[in-house]
Amino acid sequence: EPIMPPDLSKCHDANAPALDNHCCPPYSGSETILEYDFPATPLRVRRPAHLVKDDQEYMDKYKEAVRRMKNLPAEHPWNYYQQANIHCQYCNDAYYQQNTDDVPVQVHFSWIFLPWHRYYLHFYERILGKLIDDDTFTIPFWNWDTKDGMTFPAIFQDAASPLYDPKRDQRHVKDGAILDLKYAYTENTASDSEIIRENLCFIQKTFKHSLSLAELFMGDPVRAGEKEIQEANGQLEVIHNAAHMWVGEPDGYKENMGDFSTAARDSVFFCHHSNVDRMWDIYRNLRGNSVEFNDKDWLHSTFLFHDENEQLVKVKIQDCLNPTKLRYTFEQVPLPWLGNIN
Ligand code: C2O
Repeated sequence: EPIMPPDLSKCHDANAPALDNHCCPPYSGSETILEYDFPATPLRVRRPAHLVKDDQEYMDKYKEAVRRMKNLPAEHPWNYYQQANIHCQYCNDAYYQQNTDDVPVQVHFSWIFLPWHRYYLHFYERILGKLIDDDTFTIPFWNWDTKDGMTFPAIFQDAASPLYDPKRDQRHVKDGAILDLKYAYTENTASDSEIIRENLCFIQKTFKHSLSLAELFMGDPVRAGEKEIQEANGQLEVIHNAAHMWVGEPDGYKENMGDFSTAARDSVFFCHHSNVDRMWDIYRNLRGNSVEFNDKDWLHSTFLFHDENEQLVKVKIQDCLNPTKLRYTFEQVPLPWLGNIN
């Protein structure tokens, strides 16, 4: 059976010590849940973070939108920290699946990972657009699969900007250090050009290796009532973890990016995931857009989000497989790792 959304009235303490175990959303009796009304905007184009840096008009809008999100009342479902808490709720065991009393709702380590995060970003992006009344707004992507994108994106490093977050590993985000896509709290001592080469090879190998079997790229199946196990994650998720660890503080709870419960409190989270989402889109295109899992338990798995009209809506995996249905796409940039992948 497909994974179904939890009963929102039953949020409980999370396994999230960095937040004193609290990340439930405010709950004020039952809200009506509607089917999501997919947007009818022009096709919105997400651009690389290192290239939007000099687009003053865009950067002003992006910062203004995040500023407004941070200024919303703390209990508002669009409030910046409420948006971040969604990640904690669905990753740190704040809900049990319906009809179970010990199986957590968990959106990592399985074939749910990419679709859930796609929707999460989509609603976040639509809400930001709404806050500045711009139907064309998109979040940028951290283009870490190309040389110029392999450093921490500068747009998040201005201490006076609402995009800034002090809880990061300063050794990595400050001085043009090269992101190591295999990072796991041990510094890579190779030269910059060597790390860049290793990263590109790693991405290429990942695609090549997993092109014919979606489980390898996306994660193993998980069905209603089953507990995810970490080892079931896909290769893209593994790569994505490295950037989380590399950005978060090296000590303590690894805030913000290095811990599920706090990761989305850093704006770079959405930029990082935008590239993860883009990698999935490229993977899909390389496979001729064929459905990754022709399995109702995947296609009908259902999630709940607040949309850009403050409406609680439900969405199914089958409706997010092609980003054009969500009315966004990615700027086409060179893929230096692609080579002879087929
Ligand atoms: Cu839900 Cu980057 O993790």
